[in-house]
Amino acid sequence: MHTGVLYHVSTRFTSSLTDKFLTSPRGGNPLGASQLSIGYPLGAKAKDFGRVPTGRERSFMKQWRMWTVVFLIGAIGAIWLLRSAWLVSTAQPVVINNLAAPPVPTLNANRVAQGATLYAQHCAACHGANLEGAPNWQAGPADGIYPAPPHDNSGHTWHHKDDLLIRIVTNGGDPAYKSKMPAFKASLNEDEVIAILDFMKSKWGKDEREFQWWNTAVGDQQ
Ligand code: HEC
Repeated sequence: MHTGVLYHVSTRFTSSLTDKFLTSPRGGNPLGASQLSIGYPLGAKAKDFGRVPTGRERSFMKQWRMWTVVFLIGAIGAIWLLRSAWLVSTAQPVVINNLAAPPVPTLNANRVAQGATLYAQHCAACHGANLEGAPNWQAGPADGIYPAPPHDNSGHTWHHKDDLLIRIVTNGGDPAYKSKMPAFKASLNEDEVIAILDFMKSKWGKDEREFQWWNTAVGDQQ
């Protein structure tokens, strides 16, 4: 039995290559020979050349179209889902001084947002709303007291490993240096400190972020 698709194609094929259809089963050319000089006439339907497709054939064509659409949507969905796995698998290890650390992990957006809120509450007054540091920080210490430094790329924070940063925030600065950096162990738990650090990391450039990650992961081995 002919399928709808085959029917369509074979009709088109024979009608454009031969003049067989001029003596079609209905007798004669239904469209007029002059229109056929360049093959299949514009707007012509398969039914103009022969029998009308049966209901079964039409429903097959409809189903075929539907499955094509379903397949395309599925393919696009699959690419979308695999996209993140692909990004992770193509991430490069961080190599500094011939020492390789795993690829920089992706920051969790919720934790970065939580860190931004905590930073605004606990740190921004001294370190600046945009991590830019106290207005006078570049002038250096006045009377031996250091102003709050920036935490962005222009600062020093990204030079330090995670555990040192966590310790500074938890225990505060060194009293021997008259540090004005408070201890936060009474007001922030370790998860909250890590969230604040993740917020800072989200503001660093690629090089600063890679260096700090590398230093945290393998810096001890060099
Ligand atoms: C009262 C002001 C003040 C507040 C509030 C404050 N800091 Fe500080 N912080 C400082 C000062 C001043 C320094 C520099 C002196 C020092 O390092 O001892 C500093 C230093 C630091 C350093 C060391 C930076 C480096 O490059 O070595 C880190 C990290 C830090 N602060 C994080 C934080 C975080 C996170 C918060 C909020 C949870 C915070 N600070 C809140 C004043 C403050």
